[in-house]
Amino acid sequence: MSFCIAIDGPAAAGKGTISKAVAAHFGFAHLDTGLLYRATGAKTFEGLTPIEAAQSLTAEDLKRDDLRSGDAGQAASRVAAVPEVRAALVDFQQAFARREGGAVLDGRDIGTVICPDAEVKLYVTASDEVRAKRRHKELVEKGEEITLEEVLADLRERDERDAARATAPLKPAEDATVIDTSDMSIDEAVAQVLALIGDRRG
Ligand code: DC
Repeated sequence: MSFCIAIDGPAAAGKGTISKAVAAHFGFAHLDTGLLYRATGAKTFEGLTPIEAAQSLTAEDLKRDDLRSGDAGQAASRVAAVPEVRAALVDFQQAFARREGGAVLDGRDIGTVICPDAEVKLYVTASDEVRAKRRHKELVEKGEEITLEEVLADLRERDERDAARATAPLKPAEDATVIDTSDMSIDEAVAQVLALIGDRRG
């Protein structure tokens, strides 16, 4: 049986951590769809056009170790605005969403475009400042030299681009439950999400 949990929201809202915890709890597979766009963006650093990069994406490309960098995030957000790039990545995501045994997908358009009939739809968000602090801590721990102000500006730029694009913009699905994690610890956010999904699964 398939069961799709769609988790959307802006950058660094806690989607990744929550998705991993939810997938582990229910024994579902997890797909971080941002990684597909990051890997596509990173391939453009080597001279491919965004469309060529998306159409030639392989599992190997998803293992590059520079995908979490700020540059890869910006490149991802730019290639993600190209309709042909999104189209090239749809089938893979939809097959993943409907795999046997259940799936958690996190991204920007899972509840709206990839899996509009998802059994559970969440939109996870947090204030700009809280998101910037979380992402800054992550990047600094990985050795990137970047200020909090730079991270904040980067997140805002990406969110604006992601929300303004014509194809599959960042926005909550009409039937999504919105969870604001600004004043929650990750453990609290995970507990709230698990309780909500537990109710839905009956
Ligand atoms: O979730 P993330 O920060 O790794 O995503 C990187 C970029 O990829 C994000 O700024 C927009 C794009 N993206 C998208 O357009 N659609 C998705 N489902 C996931 C990510």
